[in-house]
Order: sequence, then structure tokens, then C-alpha cells
Amino acid sequence: MKKWMKLVGIVALGIGGAWGAFYLLQPETATRLVARPGFLWRIQNDQSCEGCHRTIDPGMDKQWRESAHFRAHVGCADCHGENHEAVFAVRGQVSAGVCGKCHEKEVEAFAKSGHADAELAALSDARFLAQSRAMQEEGCMGCHSIGARFADGSVGGCNTCHPSHQFSSALAREPEACKVCHGGPDHPVMESYQTSVHGVLYYMDRDAEKSPSCVTCHMPDGDHGHVANIGLGAVFTGAVLEEDFLPHLAMKRLTKSEFEANRKAMLKVCAPCHSNRFARESLERADAIKREADALVAESYALIKALYDEKALDPMPEDRPPNPVVGHAFELGGQQLYENTSEIEQAFFRLFKFYHATTFKAAYHHSPDYTHWEGIVRMKMEMDKIRTEAKRLRVLR
Ligand code: HEC
Ligand code: HEC
Ligand code: HEC
Ligand code: HEC
Ligand code: HEC
Ligand code: HEC
Ligand code: HEC
Ligand code: HEC
Repeated sequence: MKKWMKLVGIVALGIGGAWGAFYLLQPETATRLVARPGFLWRIQNDQSCEGCHRTIDPGMDKQWRESAHFRAHVGCADCHGENHEAVFAVRGQVSAGVCGKCHEKEVEAFAKSGHADAELAALSDARFLAQSRAMQEEGCMGCHSIGARFADGSVGGCNTCHPSHQFSSALAREPEACKVCHGGPDHPVMESYQTSVHGVLYYMDRDAEKSPSCVTCHMPDGDHGHVANIGLGAVFTGAVLEEDFLPHLAMKRLTKSEFEANRKAMLKVCAPCHSNRFARESLERADAIKREADALVAESYALIKALYDEKALDPMPEDRPPNPVVGHAFELGGQQLYENTSEIEQAFFRLFKFYHATTFKAAYHHSPDYTHWEGIVRMKMEMDKIRTEAKRLRVLR
């Protein structure tokens, strides 16, 4: 054998050995290899969970085999348990608490996030209670299950951003992970991002170090508890500063110091790519647009409330089927229904639930199109309809 061949052999063995030692010495892998020496062999057996399901669910098997869990020898029973009957009894569900056995940090942090409130927020909503059972499941919980609560007290639909059975971090970092839920007429955040300079640049080469994706700004350092550093753009209706003029609507109220702390955290996110002045001025423009949109909500609210006080709404709330939460009381915004109501209140619903949200959400996400044409323009057009309809109702009365 030639000398150089021996040398290559020794080097190859060295690299292989070092790699093997590195693999084994990672505490997670080592523990699992010791606990499951026969894992790779066992999963071939057609009486094991993996072996049997490999033929029944080949797509699922592929997702799992290409996952970090497979590489770390985490199998079906680690999440679903060993008892097939018990698995059927819970309809295949796996609680966040089960993930928490191995991912305590993420589960604890998630429980403190805005996402953890999502299921409760829908359950207590009049528009939820007014739906059929199937519509509640598909049309509300399809998104709000991100805040799923389980019998063991844990919370979190972990597979909404980490689809089973791949459970990948890389997929969760892409804007598509948020797309199913953060779009549509009442919160077109995805659409706004896609039509912003950030979104357009990001989709060209998918490099979040050059242009931010959703999680760059909302989950800095992968923190599952801080999906938001939200200032005036708090969830759904946004927030108002405590000392600011407050429309008669349930908006989150923030103290000046809370607001400033959130803003500071958000500006830290912009710092790697922008000067402080540039980022601050842009967020302040969005704050001003939020207030402009709030003022339109307040004006239309006052107009319709006056009509209610004059008993000029047609029909009046007492002459309609009751709202499941407020009964026959007058309700705009909050628990307002979009059906079994009057024309002028429907105009308010669109102005508030769709276009108010669009205007300011798009401003914080730098979409000129959604801020103006899909946002404030439509608010002002609904405002005109409300003014005209108010005159008509007063004449009719
Ligand atoms: C001998 C074959 C076999 C073995 C072994 C097996 N399963 Fe199943 N499993 C099935 C079949 C069949 C179904 C029903 C599949 C369907 O409807 O597509 C099922 C269904 C399931 C479901 C879905 C339940 C639901 O309500 O949606 C889960 C989760 C599951 N198995 C996990 C496991 C786990 C964990 C193990 C190991 C402890 C295991 N299985 C072992 C055959 C098997
Ligand atoms: C890391 C945890 C984890 C592992 C490992 C895992 N599952 Fe699941 N599985 C889940 C979660 C989470 C769900 C979604 C439950 C829900 O939301 O209803 C699920 C759902 C399912 C379902 C029902 C949903 C559907 O799409 O049909 C089946 C069947 C299933 N798993 C089988 C398996 C099999 C077979 C394996 C092993 C190859 C496996 N799981 C490994 C977490 C896991
Ligand atoms: C038995 C322990 C165990 C359970 C239970 C478990 N995991 Fe894991 N998980 C691991 C290990 C080990 C790794 C790979 C090592 C690491 O990155 O920490 C991992 C990695 C991950 C990753 C990173 C994947 C990547 O692409 O880097 C995600 C995301 C994840 N798990 C989510 C979940 C979710 C969601 C659940 C519950 C449905 C769950 N895990 C249940 C042990 C577990
Ligand atoms: C399965 C649906 C779903 C997915 C996927 C989802 N979200 Fe959400 N998100 C929601 C719901 C519902 C709420 C409203 C929660 C509430 O009731 O306050 C929300 C709220 C938020 C908030 C405001 C939270 C607060 O504290 O005010 C931010 C920011 C957010 N999501 C960012 C993201 C990002 C970034 C992604 C993708 C990595 C994402 N979401 C993926 C459904 C989802
Ligand atoms: C709103 C979307 C979203 C939800 C919901 C979510 N995650 Fe994540 N998760 C992410 C993102 C994004 C990353 C990648 C973070 C990074 O590396 O910057 C991640 C990474 C992880 C990792 C890998 C962490 C590491 O250090 O490599 C684990 C483990 C994990 N998540 C577990 C969970 C568990 C458990 C749940 C449910 C309680 C959950 N995730 C729910 C978005 C989400
Ligand atoms: C350049 C940073 C940045 C990116 C990228 C970004 N956001 Fe935001 N997001 C913000 C800011 C700023 C606010 C308003 C918070 C405030 O007042 O400081 C906000 C607010 C939100 C809110 C709160 C709801 C509300 O009232 O507006 C949600 C939900 C949200 N973003 C989701 C997303 C999703 C989903 C993506 C990706 C499609 C995304 N964001 C991309 C910076 C960003
Ligand atoms: C396409 C996904 C999706 C569907 C479907 C959906 N929601 Fe939401 N919902 C969200 C998101 C995302 C937010 C947070 C929006 C934001 O801040 O930008 C939200 C916010 C809310 C809020 C405000 C939460 C808060 O803390 O202020 C309520 C209440 C609500 N939804 C109820 C419902 C009801 C009831 C249904 C069914 C009739 C429903 N949603 C259907 C995604 C959805
Ligand atoms: C990962 C890098 C990165 C981060 C983080 C980032 N941006 Fe940008 N942003 C860019 C790039 C690149 C451009 C395009 C620059 C140009 O054309 O001069 C841009 C453009 C902008 C623009 C101009 C949009 C237009 O219509 O011309 C605004 C406003 C902006 N960013 C605000 C922010 C704010 C506010 C934050 C933090 C909440 C932020 N950015 C975070 C990379 C980033």
C-alpha cells in the first residue's frame, strides 16, 4: 500500500471518529441512544408504532423520518403514548404539556404570549356563539386553536407553526408559517407584508439578515413569549394611550411607560438595518395614522349612538333576535354581530372591523397600498354612507 493511501485512511478514520464522538457526546443524543439502543431496528418491526404506520401513513412517515425528532430517536410513543386505545380516546391529540417534557423553555414562554389567549378570546365572542358547531370548529378554531388548552392544564397548538410531523424550526421561521391565520379582511397583515418593501425584498432571496420576516420582528431570539413588542398596534383593535381620547370601544389601554418600553424593544429589532431616527419616524407615522383612523371610528360611533338614543335605528335592537352575549342591548364594535342588524350598523361593522384594522395594521407593516387604498379610503367611503343613512333614518322617523 502506498504511503499516501495510508495517510488518507488515517485522516478519514480520524474525521469519522471525531464526528461519531461529537454525535454521541451531545447529551440529548447520548441519553436517547442509551435508552433506545435498538431504536433503528425496532422501528422496522411491523408491530411497532412506526413499523405499522409506515405502511398505513407513508406521508406522515416521511415527514417524521426527515425530522430532528427522528434523528434524535424520538418516536411515535414519546408523544402519543404506548396505549393505542388511549390514543383513540383523545382523538390523536398531543398536548403542549407533552412537548414540555423535553421543551420546557418554549412551552413556558408560549403560555405568556398573546397567542395563548387565542382560544379563550374566540370562545367568549358573540360571533362565535352565533355560529353552527361545524362553523365554530372550521371557521374560528381553525385559527384560534393556536391557543388550545388541554386537560393537563397546558396551552399551545404547537403544530400550527411547526406542522406535524416535521416539527421544523426552519419552516416556522418563514412568513408562510403565519399565513393561514394572519390574513383576510379583518387583519390583512400578511397581505400588507407581501406588498411592503420588506416582504418584496425578503421573497427575492429569503435572507432574514438582509430583510426581515415576521419572526425577525415578532419573535426576536426565537422567544415564544414575545411574539410581540406591541405598542399602539396591540391585537385586533390596537391600543390607545391612557391619556388619549378614548372612543367608546374596547381598546387595550396602555400607560405611557408601557408604550415606551414596547417601542424601545421594537426599535432594537430595526437597529441592525436602520438608523434609530429612520425607524422611529416611520413608527411615529404609523401611530399618527392609527389615531386618524380611531377618530373616524369615534365619529361614526357617536352618530349611530345618537340615532339609537332617538329610537331611529331600523330595526331597533329590541326588535331583533337577541345577541348571544349582550341580548337586546345596543352594541357597536366589541360583541357586535354582522347579521340580524341594521344597514347603518353593518356599515359601521365594515368601517371598524375591516377597514380600521386594515389601515393601521398596514401602516405598521409599511404597505402603502393597504394603508391608503384598502384602508383609509374605504373607511371614509363607509363614513359617507353612514352620514347619508343617518339623514335618511331621521326623515323616516
Ligand atoms: C398493527 C398496526 C398498528 C400499530 C402497531 C399501531 N397502530 Fe396506530 N393506528 C393503526 C390504525 C389501523 C389506525 C387507524 C388509521 C386510520 O384511520 O387511518 C391507527 C391510528 C392511530 C392514530 C390516530 C388516532 C386518531 O384518532 O386519529 C394515532 C395517533 C396512532 N395510531 C398512534 C400509534 C402509536 C403511538 C402506536 C404505538 C404505541 C401505534 N399507533 C401502533 C394501526 C397501528
Ligand atoms: C413530537 C411529537 C410527535 C411525534 C414524535 C409523533 N406525533 Fe403524531 N401527532 C403529534 C401532534 C402534535 C398531532 C396533532 C394532534 C392534533 O392537533 O389533533 C399528531 C397527530 C397524529 C395523528 C392524527 C392526525 C392526522 O393527521 O391523521 C396520527 C395518525 C399520528 N399523529 C401518528 C403518528 C405516528 C404514526 C407517529 C410516529 C411515526 C407520530 N404520530 C409521531 C405529535 C407527534
Ligand atoms: C421525548 C422528548 C421530546 C418530545 C416529547 C418532543 N420533542 Fe421536540 N425535540 C426533541 C429533541 C431531542 C430534539 C432535537 C434536539 C434539539 O434540537 O433540541 C427536538 C427538536 C424539536 C424542534 C426543532 C426542530 C428543528 O428543526 O431544529 C422542534 C420545533 C420541536 N422539537 C418541537 C416539538 C413539539 C411541538 C413537540 C410536541 C408536539 C415536541 N417537540 C415533543 C425531543 C422531544
Ligand atoms: C393558527 C393560527 C395562527 C398562526 C399560525 C399564527 N398566529 Fe399569530 N395570532 C393568532 C391569533 C388567533 C391571534 C390573536 C390572539 C388573541 O386572542 O389575542 C394572534 C396574535 C398574534 C400577535 C399579537 C399578539 C399580542 O400579544 O398582542 C402577533 C404579533 C402574532 N400573532 C404573530 C404571529 C407570527 C409572527 C406568526 C408566524 C410565525 C403567527 N403569529 C402565527 C393566530 C395565529
Ligand atoms: C407562532 C409560531 C410558533 C408557535 C405557535 C410555536 N413555535 Fe416553536 N418556534 C417558532 C419559530 C419561529 C422557531 C425558530 C426560532 C429561531 O430559531 O429563531 C421555533 C423554534 C422552536 C424550537 C427549537 C428551539 C431551538 O432552540 O432550536 C422548539 C423546541 C420549539 N419551537 C417548540 C415549540 C413548542 C413546544 C410549541 C408549543 C408550545 C411551539 N414551539 C409553538 C415558532 C412557533
Ligand atoms: C419590520 C418589522 C415587522 C415585520 C417584518 C412584521 N411586523 Fe408585525 N408588527 C410590527 C410592528 C411595528 C407592529 C405594531 C406594534 C407597535 O405598535 O409597535 C406590528 C404588529 C403586528 C400584529 C399585532 C396586531 C396589530 O394590531 O397590528 C400582528 C398580529 C403582526 N404584527 C403580525 C405580523 C406577521 C404575521 C408578519 C409577517 C407576515 C409581520 N407581523 C411582520 C413589525 C413587524
Ligand atoms: C383566518 C384566521 C382566523 C379566523 C378564521 C378567525 N380569526 Fe379571530 N383572529 C385571528 C387573528 C390572526 C387575530 C389577531 C389579529 C391581529 O391582531 O392582527 C384574531 C383576533 C380575534 C379576536 C380579538 C382577540 C383579542 O384578544 O383582541 C376575537 C374576539 C376573534 N378573533 C374572534 C374570532 C371568531 C369568533 C371567529 C369565528 C367567527 C374568528 N375569530 C375567526 C384569526 C382568525
Ligand atoms: C433585516 C434588515 C431589516 C430590518 C430588521 C428592518 N428593515 Fe426596514 N428595510 C430593510 C431594507 C433592506 C429596506 C429597503 C431599504 C431601502 O430601499 O433603502 C427597508 C425599508 C424600510 C422602510 C422604507 C419602506 C418604503 O416604503 O420605502 C421603512 C419605513 C422601514 N424599512 C422600517 C423598518 C422598521 C420600523 C423596522 C423595525 C420595526 C425595520 N424596518 C426593520 C431592512 C430591514
